[in-house]
Amino acid sequence: MLNTSYTEMLQEKDVIFEIFAYATKRRAEVGAENVFDFSLGNPSVPAPKEVTDAICRITQETDPLALHSYSPAGGIPSVRERIASDLRWRFGVSYEGRHIFMTCGAAAALAHAIRAVTNPGDTVLTFAPCFSEYKPYVEGTGCKLCVVPADTKTFQISFDALEEYLTADVTAVLINSPNNPSGAVYSPSTLQSLSEVLTVKAAAYGHPIFLISDEPYRDILFGRADTTSPAAPGRDNLSSGVQAAYPAALYPDTLTCYSFSKSLSLPGERIGYVAVGPNSPFADRICELLPQVSRTTGHNGAASLLQRVVAECCHLTADLSVYEKNKNLLSEALRSYGYEFVEPDGTFYMFPRSLEPDAKAFCRRAMEMDLMLVPGDGFGCPGHFRIAYCVPTERVEKALPVFKRLAEEYRK
Ligand SMILES: Cc1ncc(COP(=O)(O)O)c(C=O)c1O
Repeated sequence: MLNTSYTEMLQEKDVIFEIFAYATKRRAEVGAENVFDFSLGNPSVPAPKEVTDAICRITQETDPLALHSYSPAGGIPSVRERIASDLRWRFGVSYEGRHIFMTCGAAAALAHAIRAVTNPGDTVLTFAPCFSEYKPYVEGTGCKLCVVPADTKTFQISFDALEEYLTADVTAVLINSPNNPSGAVYSPSTLQSLSEVLTVKAAAYGHPIFLISDEPYRDILFGRADTTSPAAPGRDNLSSGVQAAYPAALYPDTLTCYSFSKSLSLPGERIGYVAVGPNSPFADRICELLPQVSRTTGHNGAASLLQRVVAECCHLTADLSVYEKNKNLLSEALRSYGYEFVEPDGTFYMFPRSLEPDAKAFCRRAMEMDLMLVPGDGFGCPGHFRIAYCVPTERVEKALPVFKRLAEEYRK
């Protein structure tokens, strides 16, 4: 008997990949230079040279039998220690190696974190706008995903709405800052207030409420003073030179999910980790549970070569400066054409209001001009559209007249 849940998922088409497929078809028809594809969040800058060097050196210098052997379930001990020490240094949270659980990217980190701190039937709360894959990630665990409506003026958390949605069946709250799709970065005061609300509600309901912080864009920041502070001393190899408030430093029951997909431009290598908040009273038990989750998901550990590579490069980023350059270009031009949006503070996305209430209709109209944008409906925030500006700057420059023409069509 074929699985009914996955069969049902076939009906929910992945809008982003449909748009990307259409863009591929149009590239063949009209030439790549005439298609402006802002649909996919694939990094557009190469991994740093240090990553390539580390791959070559480790491959040449390490005994192949040792290099390619099974990694221990939680990861190679020296790698876990190295990542713990980097996080201690950057954020002042007292992680030890045992708190770091190596995974195949953020997707696997989330799969482990959610399963470790919830039971099927629980509710996981998240905030709109949110990554469209959160629904399958959460529902695949047997939990229910509940989305708190967006504060579209700031894309910070709407605490009035949270008060209403944070009911006793919520056992985990999933946040994503810097945010896909809005580019918003939660301010220290937003995170402080969230921590206070979760502490009060956990006490009132008599059970812990875990914070799962999904941070694949942690290092793509544009440095605005009220969302960031200078990076840890010596961290001058971060392109931005700044860091955002770290949720796990404010709320002990936090599981931080990280990925090197975006910071080191390694999405195809599938490497990341879960960092278990060391000051949580449940930390030791969660560290024991994570490898058990792997046994049920068939995860079987992250690739051992890549673990060694990121241990050497976890203090670096690719040259991420092009994303800020693209954001500045787009912000200035789009504002002058009459688009409204919250200025992104990080990531490589922005999330303007669509020029008609139906964002899907708006994106279809953009598509007719070979401009590929993603409607906000799949991110839980209709009336908006996502621009993934992880493309070469000249593509942004060439697309600006198309954004302008689209806005003019709506003014006619
Ligand atoms: C918000 C968010 N979370 C998780 C992921 C998954 O990241 P990874 O490629 O590391 O699995 C992505 C990927 O785009 C993302 O945007």
